[in-house]
Amino acid sequence: MAFMDFLCNHPISSIVIVMDSMFKVGFGVKVDSLHQSSEEWTSFTKAFDDCKMEQGPSSDNSNEKIVQEVKEATKLKDDTSFNEFVEHVDEETLDKMQYLHAALSETLRLYPPVPADAKFCFSDDTLPDGFSVRGGDQVCYTPYAMGRLDFLWGDDAKFFRPERWLDENGFFRPENPFKFSAFQGGPRICLGKDFAYRQMKIFSAIMLGRFVFKLSDKKKPINYKTMLTLQIDGGLHLLAFHRLL
Ligand code: HEM
Repeated sequence: MAFMDFLCNHPISSIVIVMDSMFKVGFGVKVDSLHQSSEEWTSFTKAFDDCKMEQGPSSDNSNEKIVQEVKEATKLKDDTSFNEFVEHVDEETLDKMQYLHAALSETLRLYPPVPADAKFCFSDDTLPDGFSVRGGDQVCYTPYAMGRLDFLWGDDAKFFRPERWLDENGFFRPENPFKFSAFQGGPRICLGKDFAYRQMKIFSAIMLGRFVFKLSDKKKPINYKTMLTLQIDGGLHLLAFHRLL
C-alpha cells in the first residue's frame, strides 16, 4: 500500500512519529511527546484528516500580485514579444521577484512534493532531546501535516497566504527548515533547493506572465494520487489563455 494511503487510512496512533524531537532540536517548540489529549495532537490529527486536496481559502488575488511583480521586474511593455520577455527573465530580475518566491514557498508548505519521509535507525541511539530510538525503528517526519499545523503557522495555517513569508519591506523571510520541512533539514537537507527555486521561478514567471490558467472543469474533484511524492490523480487539467497585458 502506498505510504500516503497508509497515513490517510490508519489511526494516527499506529504510526511511530518522533515529531517532538524534530521540533525541539531544530525549532525549539516544546511539544512534549504529543500526548493524545494535547492541543498539538488534535492539530496534528486534524491536519491528516484533511488529506483531500481541497482548494483552501487563499489570499486576495495572489496570482495578480505575481503578474504585477513579474511585469515590474522584467519591465514588460504591452508590445513585448514572447521571446523578448523570456530574454528578460535573468538572474537580476528573478531576484526582484520576492512575492513569487513567497508564493512558491507557500505552495510547498501546503503541498510538499515529499509529503512524508521515513528513516530507519541502523542502531540504538538517543536523539538530541533525549528521545531513545532502537536499531530497526522507523522514524518519520511529515512535511504535509507540519505545513498545516496551526500551532506552527497560526490560525490561518490552511490559508494560502504568501504574505506570511515577507518581512515589512516585502523581502522574502526564510523559515527554519525544521518548521518548513519540505526540503528536509540538517546535514542531509536537499542539495538542489536553490536550484529548484530558480527553476520554479523561471517557469512560473514565464507561464503566469504570459498566460491565464483556468480549471478545465471546476466541478471535477481533485484528489491526490497515493505515491511517495505528492501527485494529482489523473493530473490537473487546465485551460490556458493568452494574457492581455
Ligand atoms: C521542489 C523541489 C524539491 C523538493 C521539495 C526536494 C525535497 C527533497 C527532500 C525532502 C530531500 C531529503 C530526502 C531524504 O533524505 O529522505 C531531498 C534530498 C535531495 N535533493 Fe531535493 N528536492 C527538490 C528538488 C531538487 C533538485 C532540483 C535537485 C537537484 C538539482 C535536488 C537534489 C537533491 C539531493 C542531491 C538530495 C540528497 C541530499 C543528501 O542526502 O545529502 N532536489 N530533496
